[in-house]
Amino acid sequence: MDKLQDVIELLKEYNQEHIIRWMNTLDEEKKREIIEQIKQIDFHQMTELYDNTKKEVEIKENKIEAIKYIDKEKLTVIERKELEGLGEQVIRKGEYAVVTMAGGQGTRLEHTGPKGTFKLDVYGKGKYLFEILAENLKEANKNYGVTIPWYIMTSKENNEATYDFLEKNNYFGYEKEDVILFEQGELPLINTEGKLLINKNGLIKEASDGNGGVFSSLRTSGALSDMKERGIKWIFIGGVDNVLLKMADTTLLGLAIKENVQIASKSIVKANPTERVGVFCKMNGHPKVIEYSELPEKMAEEVDNNGELKYGEAHIMCNLFTIDAIEKISKEPLIYHSAFKKNSYLDENGKEVIPSEKNSYKFEAFIFDAFEFFDDIAILRGKREDDFAPVKNKEGVDSPKTAKELYEKFWERNKK
Ligand code: UD1
Repeated sequence: MDKLQDVIELLKEYNQEHIIRWMNTLDEEKKREIIEQIKQIDFHQMTELYDNTKKEVEIKENKIEAIKYIDKEKLTVIERKELEGLGEQVIRKGEYAVVTMAGGQGTRLEHTGPKGTFKLDVYGKGKYLFEILAENLKEANKNYGVTIPWYIMTSKENNEATYDFLEKNNYFGYEKEDVILFEQGELPLINTEGKLLINKNGLIKEASDGNGGVFSSLRTSGALSDMKERGIKWIFIGGVDNVLLKMADTTLLGLAIKENVQIASKSIVKANPTERVGVFCKMNGHPKVIEYSELPEKMAEEVDNNGELKYGEAHIMCNLFTIDAIEKISKEPLIYHSAFKKNSYLDENGKEVIPSEKNSYKFEAFIFDAFEFFDDIAILRGKREDDFAPVKNKEGVDSPKTAKELYEKFWERNKK
């Protein structure tokens, strides 16, 4: 009873009286569930996030510089071999692990189910995105005589479906004990008045807290401890939807070791000012990615003396960290970005409302905001045709059709 009173007080304090009214319509079991859920919510944080939606994203241009990078194409054979050797040593010693972030909703692709279970129509039979990633890792395992532990970040929404899918497909021949699933966190959605929404199960509506949630979830899930027990020193973190992603790139790893940095990333040249990719820069002396949704048009179009885009190094979600870097980041709060979206909810009468206009905010941390905690990053510029074939949209750019073409062309060029 005390618990209920505390929760009521809390809801009143944060202007969420509609939830108190909603709770009064629930049976005892549901009420217990929602009370437990409310106790987990940081209302102070939610108020701050709501207040931030009223502020403009501020980018202080005068402190921004272009980022330095090494172009893989321009390395001499000797330089490349040296880097590859350094990277290979780490992988051979079993000090390398890979994380795939697969907690996203894949809304733009309109695929029901976890994105990794999407089948790309390649070579007649087709391949699932998870299968393509598994093949990439198995190739590395064969080359370096190890099994690279593969951590997969799921969300509350898709964890079970991901697990069932991988079981059914026998982990695509990967060792089961070396595939570790862990769940990312969630945050409530709020409407334009700062009110929480009710989902179709009668609970507070929440959604994944963005791919930046990877660091704290690695720690809280125990995955980070598992890595330490395995003697892991370097961790690659990549997305689920790039069918040309190289998850064990010895040149990138070697470059990070040679430059003695804690973080590294592969970039490609941005195709045009409006391409929907984040771009690297240095802000106030620290490495940073500005997301496409937040890049001012003027900056997006700026060119340097060579006529190249000044902010033209695209972030392709191909990131590398030392385990110490992950440990450090996992204890620091990352900022949240808000996205204004259409989200269905139950009204006070329990009737589902499917909005025709955007009605609420979703809050997401971005993985690359962690770069700012460091003084330096090693950037290796790769090649679009070798490194980037994302499956994002149902049709048009970055769609299954474009990814299929790029994938098949790559393997045609790299036939054994
Ligand atoms: C992302 C990058 C962008 C980059 C582009 C390259 C971010 C914020 N943006 O954009 O800079 O240029 O990829 O393709 O990283 N995910 C989760 N949990 C979440 C949200 C996302 O695991 O809560 C995963 C997705 O499953 C996917 C990856 O993160 O593997 C990318 O997420 P997505 O939302 O598709 O990012 P983009 O907008 O494409």
